[in-house]
Amino acid sequence: MNLWGGRFTGETDKHFAAFNASFRFDRRLIFADLRACAVHARALGRAGVLQQSEVAAITEGLKKIGEMAAEPGFLDRPEFAATEDVHSFIESRLVELIGQTGYKLHTARSRNDQVAVATRLFLREEIAALDDVMRDTQRAIIELAERYAADPLPGYTHLQKAQPVLFAHFLLAYFQMLSRDRARMADVKMRVNVLPLGSGALAGTNFPVDREWMAAELGFDSVTRNSLDAVSDRDYIIEFVNASAMTMMHLSRLAEDLIIYSTQEFGFIKLGDAISTGSSLMPQKKNPDSLELIRGKSARVFGHLTAALTMTKGLPLAYNKDLQEDKEALFDTIDTLTDSLRVTATVLRNIELNRDHARAAAISDYTNATDLADYLVRKGLEFRKAHEVIGRIVVYAIEQGKELAELTIDECRRFSPLFDEDIFEAISLESSLAGKKQTGGTAPEHVRQELAKAKADL
Ligand code: ARG
Repeated sequence: MNLWGGRFTGETDKHFAAFNASFRFDRRLIFADLRACAVHARALGRAGVLQQSEVAAITEGLKKIGEMAAEPGFLDRPEFAATEDVHSFIESRLVELIGQTGYKLHTARSRNDQVAVATRLFLREEIAALDDVMRDTQRAIIELAERYAADPLPGYTHLQKAQPVLFAHFLLAYFQMLSRDRARMADVKMRVNVLPLGSGALAGTNFPVDREWMAAELGFDSVTRNSLDAVSDRDYIIEFVNASAMTMMHLSRLAEDLIIYSTQEFGFIKLGDAISTGSSLMPQKKNPDSLELIRGKSARVFGHLTAALTMTKGLPLAYNKDLQEDKEALFDTIDTLTDSLRVTATVLRNIELNRDHARAAAISDYTNATDLADYLVRKGLEFRKAHEVIGRIVVYAIEQGKELAELTIDECRRFSPLFDEDIFEAISLESSLAGKKQTGGTAPEHVRQELAKAKADL
């Protein structure tokens, strides 16, 4: 039986009924909905709308439904297949279990505030669970960074070799991104954690339910201040998907870096068998499918963000059924982000750095040219002029097929009299790294501190 039969004399078209139904996916809200239902029942008791015996019967019934729903396969039973949504599902089971009193539960409530409170409760807990997964991904970053704490590789701009950095410094860049992502999620959670129950369908309710009490009982920080807004607001979902999209974008960038670094052309890292796949045709192949999927799945979360914004932009106040479309986007965002974070952590735990190759690459192709320019600055030359001199030396070195460290002091002096024997020390890989010791730089001593700080922050 549906929740709105009285006004109708005709039957619902069966294709439309299936189109309209959301139970197939919104059943995921059932435990959150049941908790909100139980508090709503008690609020009705406190308001004198329900007798204590009725509250007790409803509470007991809701508890039983929770137990049944927890049984594997229960919600998949064929007799429930035609259920409209999780809210009508709960009411139908309640009436089956406790009789007519079950019909009283919907007093002072609409599915509009019911779905909003259930979704907010659900999402609040999902965000808490996601934070654990994000932290574990950060932990995997730290583990890998600690394993190779002193190993360099080239840093890039424009995907052209730029300057040497520590592999740990590269990894900690992603640690920072995930820290911001976690802060963003915590911020979203504050706006998720507001109680909409008591807003009715759109105007509020005639019954004196104590909204502040319900909020406290359900662990919400506050109550919504406008019923029209409360039942039609999906900002908290959009914000969550937005924060998730940002995290997916970060994971995707990391995936791309690691894919590139694992190619034969770069060869800085080896990806373990556990997170790679082979080719059905080419026997020699080992492909980074794990990382490619993370990169690919970022696209679907961006899609959910666009869908959620687009779904909402033309809606007149207050509730409209369009809003039911929020759920699959929300659930898929949670699942995609959770899986992608987990796989990222697993990939990080299955990476080996090709130390020698990465080190050799870090100091070849003139990655120390900037250090040589800085050397001339320390000898008194203006930076712009030093830049010019080193640029010309690089052209010369390329012609000679030599690295800067392979030039003789006489060759260097042809470009500037300021060069001395100490240049070789100045442009060594070690000095290049050690020099960058300002906060945020790649000096080993600083990276070690950052690593310790990152670990402490977790
Ligand atoms: N399944 C609906 C949703 O997710 C629940 C609210 C239904 N409200 C209504 N007025 N039809 O949005």
